[in-house]
Amino acid sequence: MTKPLNIVAISGSLRQASFNTGLLKAAAELAPETLTVSLLEFHELPFLNPDVPATNAVDRFKAAISEADGLLIATPEYNYSVPGGLKNALDWASRPAYQSPMFNKPVGVLSASPGMVGGARAQSHLKHILLGMGSQVFPYPEFLLSQAGGKFDDGALVDETTRSFLTKYLEAYAAWVSRCNH
Ligand code: FNR
Repeated sequence: MTKPLNIVAISGSLRQASFNTGLLKAAAELAPETLTVSLLEFHELPFLNPDVPATNAVDRFKAAISEADGLLIATPEYNYSVPGGLKNALDWASRPAYQSPMFNKPVGVLSASPGMVGGARAQSHLKHILLGMGSQVFPYPEFLLSQAGGKFDDGALVDETTRSFLTKYLEAYAAWVSRCNH
């Protein structure tokens, strides 16, 4: 059997009971055998200042992305866009421009929100940001989880319809990442 693709998952939320982190934990559980999904955190990263050298935490973060065959990013929507911490982490990973760990990296974007549009505005912004750093963005199907509050129990995704759609999303994503890496 060929080696599973190494997928690194980044949640845009630092919240303990985050719906977005919960989605990625469910993705690790529901992924097809062709993928392994592991979470990568960014809470140790400093604010990016191009005058100041990268820290060890930045180097580790970038190395994990470099070694990944693809990324999954689940973002909350903060004031119609992505949380600042996630943007800061991606800005670190995007340098040096067009030779960075993000360049050509296949990325799937998910979003979850208690609101009615499932973080659509943040998801759209995130896809735009990824194009700015030359990443490849998984186009279809899109994964937006609205009214997320009722779909988790103690941080775990329990809604069967969502679990079933996430499984289908991951199958399509796995096939796409495989094509991107050939
Ligand atoms: C929010 N939230 C929010 N939700 C939304 O659908 N659209 C929005 O513009 C915002 N704006 C916003 C700003 C700030 C500063 C916070 C803290 C929150 C609510 C947000 O979707 C909710 O807190 C989610 O639970 C965040 O995702 P996690 O942490 O559960 O993954």
